[in-house]
Amino acid sequence: MSRAGSIVLLTGAGISAESGLATFRGAGGLWEGQRVEDVATPEAFRRDPARVHAFYNARRASLAQVQPNAAHLALARLERAWPGEVLLVTQNVDDLHDRAGSRNLLHMHGELLKVRCLRCEAVHPWTGPTSLDTVCPACGRPAGIRPHIVWFGEMPLEMARIEAALETCALFAAVGTSGNVYPAAGFVAGVRPGVPTVELNLEPSLVSSRFTDRRQGPASRLVPAWVDELLAGGIPA
Ligand code: APR
Repeated sequence: MSRAGSIVLLTGAGISAESGLATFRGAGGLWEGQRVEDVATPEAFRRDPARVHAFYNARRASLAQVQPNAAHLALARLERAWPGEVLLVTQNVDDLHDRAGSRNLLHMHGELLKVRCLRCEAVHPWTGPTSLDTVCPACGRPAGIRPHIVWFGEMPLEMARIEAALETCALFAAVGTSGNVYPAAGFVAGVRPGVPTVELNLEPSLVSSRFTDRRQGPASRLVPAWVDELLAGGIPA
């Protein structure tokens, strides 16, 4: 089936929920057990770096226990079927899209499995629990490593590429995100008039009304079915 144009996909914590990773908001969410102000801001890191390192070390440990689910795998299948036409932008810092096989993938909020030097800004793979004594492999200075995570109050990554893709895409889809956090929550408004937009989510998000198509249910059921529909019928007019 031919297709006309490119697709921008946005995912949030909901796509990883069925893999066993906590979302942020709602029952059992990460922000139930911790305050953003204590573990996910530059001020928190300046105030108590050990506490912030411990928060992310715990989240890294949970990654080793989980696997990509059918939703992650379906998005990777879509990218393979339509090479060069699919850009996946994720707010998630887990590596489940990477492990599922997605390649044209932007982690706009950073990645749990990477760390960054506070002094030389070099980004490195995470090689074990970080602490105040961790030395930067590039500049060799100690105590200068932070999680490669975009904290509240910091600029998301890759925004120029994301905005350019939104302005030219022929289809935008959001999976498993509550619409609480900008700029991601505003992406649906960044596409050209008339471009179809679809939201695949367990429950209505704060921006559901902005989408031309809204489907409710677990991502592991909705996403594979939606990908099958796309591959069979092409991008909806
Ligand atoms: N299938 C589909 N959607 C689901 C599922 C599921 N199995 N489980 C939960 N959801 C939906 C919820 O209904 C909710 O709308 O996923 C969304 C999760 O919302 P949040 O917990 O707010 O996560 P997210 O939207 O990714 O948060 C955005 O906020 O705290 C920051 O940086 C953090 O990237 C994160 C950003």
